[in-house]
Amino acid sequence: MKLVVALPLVLSSLLSVSSMAKDFDFFYFVQQWPGSFCGTSQGCCFPDTGKPAADFGIHGLWPNYARCQGRQGLAARAMLGEDVAAAVISAAVGRRGKCWPEYCDDGNALRPWAIRDLFKSLEQNWPTLSCKGSGRSFEFWSYEWKKHGTCSNLEQRDYFASALAVKAAHNLTEILAGAGIVPSESERYSVSSVSEAIAQGTGFKANLECNRGADGEAQLFQVYQCVDKEAKQLIDCPLSMPTKCRGDTVKLPVF
Ligand SMILES: *[C@@H]1O[C@H](CO)[C@@H](O)[C@H](O)[C@H]1NC(C)=O
Repeated sequence: MKLVVALPLVLSSLLSVSSMAKDFDFFYFVQQWPGSFCGTSQGCCFPDTGKPAADFGIHGLWPNYARCQGRQGLAARAMLGEDVAAAVISAAVGRRGKCWPEYCDDGNALRPWAIRDLFKSLEQNWPTLSCKGSGRSFEFWSYEWKKHGTCSNLEQRDYFASALAVKAAHNLTEILAGAGIVPSESERYSVSSVSEAIAQGTGFKANLECNRGADGEAQLFQVYQCVDKEAKQLIDCPLSMPTKCRGDTVKLPVF
């Protein structure tokens, strides 16, 4: 009997999912070193605005769960009516569960007008380096907004302005340079010295990701910082990602 009563309720809530507050625990704020993005065998393409500065660029601001949600847990919570969105998500999760929400509102496309006053700053700080699109960074921002931003509980302008503010508050390029970690074709830096410099300079530990250069050597590719749900302050990461840097040293290639 209970189920028969509850089912229409669950179904009607499912339909209004996009207008509900999205459920997540923190943001990953991800920045990439352009010299490492470009310094692989695949290379990169500059945006139509020209070669970006030799500075970290934003990849994205990604809502994340503190604990991956397993299939069974999600289904149970959905049946209890605790988390209706979980029912939708559970349809799309693999065996390992779901570790972040994505594509929360496909009807909410990024409107150029909404972020018009941020264009210049976004072009400097969030440039595309992809060869797949038209070279317009707006395509990159639209994709990030659609996949991650629609799950952030933020308005379009607030989402982008918040990312820019966090980047400006902790200038990674300057923080690393202050520790003697500067772009170089030959120098190798210990992964722990990079971690320590970021922890010292920002007050919070970050997760690091490396990739491989055309010469096969590890290079510092992306830095994952953790940010509170309001997208205002750095926080200690609720999760420690495995450092995806094989070996003890990395390069920071010249860009
Ligand atoms: C960070 O520092 C670099 C190097 O000094 C500079 O080029 C860049 O504009 C700074 N970025 C921000 C967001 O202030």
